[in-house]
Amino acid sequence: MPDETRLRLAIFASGRGSNALSIIRASKEGRLPRVEPVMVICDKAGAPVVDRAREEGISAFEILPRDFSSKEEYERAILNHLREKAVDAVALAGYMRLVGPVLIGAFPDRILNIHPSLLPAFPGLAAQKQAIDYGVKITGVTVHFVDLLMDHGPVVLQKSLPVLPEDTEETLSRRLLSVEHEAYLEALDALSRGRLKIEGRRVRWLSD
Ligand code: GRF
Repeated sequence: MPDETRLRLAIFASGRGSNALSIIRASKEGRLPRVEPVMVICDKAGAPVVDRAREEGISAFEILPRDFSSKEEYERAILNHLREKAVDAVALAGYMRLVGPVLIGAFPDRILNIHPSLLPAFPGLAAQKQAIDYGVKITGVTVHFVDLLMDHGPVVLQKSLPVLPEDTEETLSRRLLSVEHEAYLEALDALSRGRLKIEGRRVRWLSD
């Protein structure tokens, strides 16, 4: 029997899966008491996240866009998996693909993404390199609701981090990653407690 007090979460990822693993482990360790990760969906053949999730006992599915004739068909296949496991919400965690109308329509205001910059600065790929190349002194991470545009929906929370003079893309990415992990847990905990209320572009945090 599904525990109805917990948010049944699907995590979408494309690569190594450190954010996915951080969510799965936090849930196991009781740090996300109202979140139950129920599956990982991966769009890249052979991505490490699949085995890493399975080692933690979480079902992981490789669903590859190339096996479908359209994005719509691809998302319908994902949707079947989500429905089968009665998923309530989705966390994009290094999922390198735009979510389309099929999934957004099925999970309105129930899909979160994490991005390694203070949006709207540096959307898209290699946000950490963009920050270094631009010369900003402060960057950070953003958790936001997902809409049809890239790195665009209402902002749930942001955490900032100084860019150090000696930072390279690698060192900055590493420091940002641990902030990502922390920020995602905070946002998911709030979502699971029904604390996030979207008002236009703004997300109001309700008290617990
Ligand atoms: C993270 O920096 C995430 O914000 C970005 O891609 C990276 C994925 O890392 N979109 P991981 O797969 O969660 O380790």
